[in-house]
Amino acid sequence: MRIGFAFTGAGHLLRESVQLAEKLAKEHEVTVFLSGAAEEVLKMYGLYERIERITGGKYRELATDSNQKFSYPITGRLSIGKYDLLIVSPTTANTVSKIVHGIADTLVTNAVAQSGKGAVPVYMVPVDIHPGPVDTVLPSKIELSKCQKCDDCVAALACEQGAIIAHQEIDLTKCIGCGMCRNTCPHDAISEGKVITIYMRDIDIENTRKLESIDNIRIFEKPEDILDEF
Ligand SMILES: Cc1cc2nc3c(=O)[nH]c(=O)nc-3n(C[C@H](O)[C@H](O)[C@H](O)COP(=O)(O)O)c2cc1C
Repeated sequence: MRIGFAFTGAGHLLRESVQLAEKLAKEHEVTVFLSGAAEEVLKMYGLYERIERITGGKYRELATDSNQKFSYPITGRLSIGKYDLLIVSPTTANTVSKIVHGIADTLVTNAVAQSGKGAVPVYMVPVDIHPGPVDTVLPSKIELSKCQKCDDCVAALACEQGAIIAHQEIDLTKCIGCGMCRNTCPHDAISEGKVITIYMRDIDIENTRKLESIDNIRIFEKPEDILDEF
């Protein structure tokens, strides 16, 4: 099969989505589409290189908001039915909201719109499905309660991206999730993968519900559920 696999900028279910893309790329032609936020967030969680590794060659491109400019020529392939399936996982509240309002101004929302025109089925994993609390995973973070405010912060010195603001926080726009800071801090003051609880907003749940009424779109709770369809 020829599959488009789109990522948006959600940390929730991101690792599981990368695992799904890796599995599918072993047996299918997979083109990866990244929203601008997906590109950043994949780096923050140290997952970007895994996406680079599964891409390369015709119909296995790594298409991004920046390399597709503003008119997203690559999504034209979806409108002329060159793909069997588009997967969007994970899907942010932002992207769901745009899709249900017919907006197509990012690579991913545009790919969904063009799939509708080309009658290509779209499988989506929205992060906001059920009301109430949800546990989600953070990228690297300085734990201030453990930070000893060393004169020379070895974690900051080890970071080749210059992402550590010593004794304060990690500039996630620079972080590539390499883990050097965590491995060098002698006080174990940098966490990775810390689980926090967030609360779903009614408006986002409502938008996900509207998504289900769009003809060619199917909703899945978890990325791995999509494998049952193959
Ligand atoms: C570390 C990190 C994790 C995030 N996780 C989520 C998330 O789980 N769900 C969500 O809706 N937005 C999340 N966001 C916010 C989105 O990236 C942001 O709303 C972005 O504008 C979405 O753009 P996109 O929908 O085009 O990908 C996260 C942002 C960061 C920095």
